[in-house]
Amino acid sequence: MQSILVTGGCGFIGANFIHLLFNNPDFKARIINVDKLTYAGNPENLTVVEDAYPDRYVFVRADICDAQAMTEVFSKFNIDAVCNFAAESHVDRSIVEPDAFIKTNIYGTFTLLEAAREFQDQIIRFHHVSTDEVFGSLGADGYFTEETAYQPNSPYSASKAASDHLIRAYFSTYDLPITISNCSNNYGPYQFPEKLIPLMILHALEGKPLPVYGKGNNIRDWLYVCDHCKAVWDIMQHGKPGETYNVGGRCELANLDTVGIICDVLDEIQPAKNNRPHRELIKFVKDRPGHDFRYAIDCAKLENELGWTPQETFDSGIRKTIQWYLDNREWIGRVKSGEYRAWIERHYGDT
Ligand code: NAD
Ligand code: DAU
Repeated sequence: MQSILVTGGCGFIGANFIHLLFNNPDFKARIINVDKLTYAGNPENLTVVEDAYPDRYVFVRADICDAQAMTEVFSKFNIDAVCNFAAESHVDRSIVEPDAFIKTNIYGTFTLLEAAREFQDQIIRFHHVSTDEVFGSLGADGYFTEETAYQPNSPYSASKAASDHLIRAYFSTYDLPITISNCSNNYGPYQFPEKLIPLMILHALEGKPLPVYGKGNNIRDWLYVCDHCKAVWDIMQHGKPGETYNVGGRCELANLDTVGIICDVLDEIQPAKNNRPHRELIKFVKDRPGHDFRYAIDCAKLENELGWTPQETFDSGIRKTIQWYLDNREWIGRVKSGEYRAWIERHYGDT
């Protein structure tokens, strides 16, 4: 792989993926990051890379739904591999306003696949980053395997399920060398503070209520973002075309416990100004409609076939994450004030 198209590289996982590759001394390829810069895309996440690798990192502001722009990217940069992170990713937003999810996650994936098909002779790998939410919800027992039937429950997960089916169909029909990863909940640096973990960290630091949906007993399987990025890179290099791989941390926690752990770590390293325990800020709020009860990934295939294994425990990962938010108050300030949008408009114009 010499010229890799990464879509959605200015978002949370995409930015961590690009950092991971450039921090690897064996990585010699060029990355073309195509991102539309929605509210979730922040080019500041990659300024270090942009400055350090001006010859091997290129940013293109474009929408993956724009067929002409995608064809131009494949042609101009001789793209030989794709890693598709670009998506609308937040379940709560998909419940309120599903339109963008259908456009980007389904039509955008289709548009990228068509561009790849046009340049199929030069494409070594097309990797699609997906979610465990396509499998629906588990009860108290059992795990999602690669054979679990799809049963998505939210507009977000339904749109990701549709994109997975398209990707698979392009392997069966056109022999496009695809792979898919279905991963559980990620956390770590650069996550937009609408998702559970960064939202709770920032609210706790500001002494604001910590809104836990329902009774807080829904279970998520947490994975530190760099472990996910490592899995994606392993699959891109060594995964078998046409295959899907589940990625997860074997780290199930009820939401109330996740929030409780964040509160306890903050009590230890950044006590509240009034010295009260952060747990006192927990507030139970109205549940999410169609709230999936439990996700839990069986990642044995990835471990056995590719030798992948997560490096972080939840304790080490959550401490790194909290410390990152404590050390990056200016990033938080610019995201929360909307200043990062003004910067984007000054540099690239309005969306
Ligand atoms: P994110 O919302 O933080 O970032 C998404 C990025 O995609 C942003 O930079 C945004 O500007 C860009 N984007 C959105 N629409 C676009 C379009 N039409 N054209 C080009 N760029 C566009 O998302 P994330 O959490 O980093 O997730 C990345 C991928 O990983 C998604 O496909 C998501 O479904 C999947 N995933 C996420 C998690 C998780 O826990 N966050 C877990 C499993 C899988
Ligand atoms: O499982 C993978 C998925 O994980 C990804 O595909 C999605 O892109 C990602 O957003 C995430 O989806 P979730 O809906 O699980 O993540 P979220 O952080 O929104 O919520 C995690 C859990 O916490 C969920 O059970 C809802 C609950 N929650 C969330 C928020 C934002 C709360 O109780 N309070 C909150 O304020």
